[in-house]
Amino acid sequence: MKTYRSFYKPLAIGAPEPFAEPPVALERMIHFVPPHIEKMRLKIPQMISQVDVILGNLEDAIPADEKINAREGFIQMANDNDFGSTKLWTRINSLESPWVLDDISEIVTRCGDKLDVIMLPKVNGPWDIHYLDQLLAQLEAKAGIKKPIQIHAILETAEGVNNVEAIATASPRMHGMSLGPADLAASRGMKTTRVGGGHPDYQVLADADGDAPRTRYQQDLWHYTVAKMVDACMAAGIKPFYGPFGDFSDPAACEAQFRNSFLMGCLGTWTLHPSQIKIAKSVFSPEPDEIKFARRILEAMPDGTGAVMLDGKMQDDATWKQAKVICDLADLVIS
Ligand code: GLV
Ligand code: MG
Repeated sequence: MKTYRSFYKPLAIGAPEPFAEPPVALERMIHFVPPHIEKMRLKIPQMISQVDVILGNLEDAIPADEKINAREGFIQMANDNDFGSTKLWTRINSLESPWVLDDISEIVTRCGDKLDVIMLPKVNGPWDIHYLDQLLAQLEAKAGIKKPIQIHAILETAEGVNNVEAIATASPRMHGMSLGPADLAASRGMKTTRVGGGHPDYQVLADADGDAPRTRYQQDLWHYTVAKMVDACMAAGIKPFYGPFGDFSDPAACEAQFRNSFLMGCLGTWTLHPSQIKIAKSVFSPEPDEIKFARRILEAMPDGTGAVMLDGKMQDDATWKQAKVICDLADLVIS
């Protein structure tokens, strides 16, 4: 019997019952909202139908003197809205901050039953996850919350990258992980001033060819970390995500960064500006041509074994599994 793991289908094929997969949902974009701004909170009802995940941000980008207003605004927006199938997340302040203890205790006790996931920034190792895990268990018990709140780590310190595998397996509450390229750049001492994306000076030169000007190829600064994160997450059965892209004036570069991470295995990304929602939706949904070809592979190999040729390309058990990922995602997008 074939075993097959997918984040896009509720049950693994051939898995023995009961197989405790969580309910499946699209998480193509985690849309960031600053909850201290009333105008933004008022937009939540329209936003619910446009995004897969709404996140109330309490951490970086919220001024220190607005931290408590942001927390209160988040609790209000959580309690005032029916989110339907759209997930509700919050990004709390980091564990070194003076705000985090109240972020966790106020939010879990006052709107914990509306909350799906807590995003924890600047995670350095599994001990950070253990701390939050225990606190959540105590607060959930106190507040009578039935559905465990999940934890999503941001991979954005050099120490965190070193410990990525241990972080991924730190708790059954682990939902997934996102790359935090801005903090990670600072933590690594990179010589950049950007939020994600490439850098024009990070390049390789093609070999010299006489006196002809040498071709320069810009490289992806984030390839190594995304690959490391995807492997750690998939091996642990949790979900990998790209993070923020800060240059709102460059949608083409944003799309390219999102697409690289999608092709590498990420399930979604953050959207910090409304213009990025449609980019994320299109990038993290498979292309019609890819779906058509993937479906042909599944049809050509009904039991997922053996080898066939399609358009001159060999297909076998491994390409069947790749095709299944694309088809399952396509089914979820159109359902
Ligand atoms: C996100 O938090 C980042 O630092 O990039
Ligand atoms: Mg950060």
